[in-house]
Amino acid sequence: MSVDQLILIVEDSATQAIRLQMLLEQEGFKTVTAASGEAALEEINRELPSLIVVDYHLPGIQGDELCRQIHMDINTRGIPLLMLTADETSAAELHGLESGADDFVAKSENSEILLLRVHNLLRKSRRDSVNVEVGRSLFRRARVLIIDDSATYRESLAQELLDEGCEVTQVTTGVEGLAALDRDDFDCVMVDMVMPGMDGIAVCKALSERRAEAEAPLVVLMLSAYESKENVARALEAGADDFVGKSIEMSLLRARLRALLRRKFLLEQNQRIIEEIRLREMETLRAKAEKEAAEARAALAEGLAKANRELEEANTKLRETQVHLIQSEKMASLGQLVAGIAHEINNPLSFALSNVFTIESWLAGVLGEARGALTEPQAFKLEKARSRIVDTGQGLERVRELVVKLRTFSRLDEGEFKTIDVTDAIESVLMFLRHKMSDRIEVERQFQPDNMLACYAGQLNQVLMNIIANAVDAIEDRGRILVRTTTCDGMFVVAVSDTGCGIPPEIVERIFDPFFTTKPVGQGTGLGLSISYGIIKNHKGRIEVSSTPGEGTEVRILIPLDLKEG
Ligand SMILES: Nc1ncnc2c1ncn2[C@@H]1O[C@H](COP(=O)(O)OP(=O)(O)OP(=O)(O)O)[C@@H](O)[C@H]1O
Ligand SMILES: [Mg+2]
Repeated sequence: MSVDQLILIVEDSATQAIRLQMLLEQEGFKTVTAASGEAALEEINRELPSLIVVDYHLPGIQGDELCRQIHMDINTRGIPLLMLTADETSAAELHGLESGADDFVAKSENSEILLLRVHNLLRKSRRDSVNVEVGRSLFRRARVLIIDDSATYRESLAQELLDEGCEVTQVTTGVEGLAALDRDDFDCVMVDMVMPGMDGIAVCKALSERRAEAEAPLVVLMLSAYESKENVARALEAGADDFVGKSIEMSLLRARLRALLRRKFLLEQNQRIIEEIRLREMETLRAKAEKEAAEARAALAEGLAKANRELEEANTKLRETQVHLIQSEKMASLGQLVAGIAHEINNPLSFALSNVFTIESWLAGVLGEARGALTEPQAFKLEKARSRIVDTGQGLERVRELVVKLRTFSRLDEGEFKTIDVTDAIESVLMFLRHKMSDRIEVERQFQPDNMLACYAGQLNQVLMNIIANAVDAIEDRGRILVRTTTCDGMFVVAVSDTGCGIPPEIVERIFDPFFTTKPVGQGTGLGLSISYGIIKNHKGRIEVSSTPGEGTEVRILIPLDLKEG
């Protein structure tokens, strides 16, 4: 039973400590000693003992203060405390018990009595820790049952207890006492040891059996007129929590009762607190679980929302890709159609053009050779015919230009890949367009020192032509065109800005569409930018446009400097 039970001995006298240690270890207990209250608290921190034997007189913290400190801590308040007192005066006993110890023993007392009290306290603490009733009011009057055949003693004891603030029930026999215990709930039974019929020892044994059945904890105080060592031993062995001689002073009896009840109430309270802590812990766990569930739900919702967003994005991308595919499909078939038409037009156009030139030269010849032989109206008609055929030739020339553009539009991947000086290309384009600018447009050039670029030269020419021609077209009267070359982030940049009419924001999106033009019929085909876009894309570059209506436009073409053929 005592195996593994640790008893802490708090004793400043080394001899006394060793004596106690030997006594308790012979009984099978493990012991640990502390020479002061402070050292005792450290020991308790290290390992919780099953019982503490405290000397009342200690250096530093006194024994009673140590008891109070131990009672104040929720973890240690259940440890039974046995106080050792040096002298046997009632006042000292009283003091020891008032300090909050659960029992006391005089140092001079027989060691058997000490062991009995130790076992008794340990038994009680085990029992009480499982049986303490939960839910009773914290502040209540103690209910005491007195079982005694002596009316005089019963009455005077009852009076003492009433003065102490207890609720008192009196019975005269053991049988009546057990019946009363069956009916009502009591905190303490004070039973006379010697009674006719069922004596105090028998009552104690009956109560011990009930305790074994896990009934409510009950403090049992054995009273006896015969205060012998044997009687104390018999009473404690029968299960009594304490033994009191009837000759004892009433104040000491009350003190002993108080100590017993305090311990009982303390354990009740302990149990209540533990239960409350358990409930709170459960509440905390429940709240935590709820919080986690809510967080999980939120995370799930968040995840779903994210997945939805991603799906939407993927969907949008798919649609965009689809539109692009349709667009390029359309462009491809448009290209085929345009190439076919251009081809069909090209043959008749060639002979029509060559015939027109032939006819015009013949007419010029006839007019020169036979001018004198012709009448005025004949000469006039021939002259007219010649001028009409020249007009026809110009018209057919424009058709040819259109056919060339259409063919370029449909065959973007053709052309020679080589390294050129871009400024040469710009200059040739400017020269080509000079007649359209005459002196109404001032051209400014800002070229970087090195302008060599590997590209499809013919195609780049065409882009420059389209963009500079657009700038010229945009300037209605007088104005200025600035052509710059720079390098930016590994890209060759040609920027053409004009002081022209600018592009209204609502059409900016459409200027790269094939056949989109704002120019009068016969002046613009609307293919310039769409062809340029295709060419620059083919060069892995891009075209940027910024424009302010009424102020002008800047078009930038960007081509990678490290472009490779293919
Ligand atoms: N620099 C510019 N300033 C103002 N508007 C411009 C400029 N460049 C292009 N645009 C607008 O973009 C339209 C499309 O240009 P794009 O070069 O594709 O065709 P176009 O010039 O009309 O005809 P084409 O070039 O085939 O003779 C033009 O009609 C014009 O409205
Ligand atoms: Mg154009």
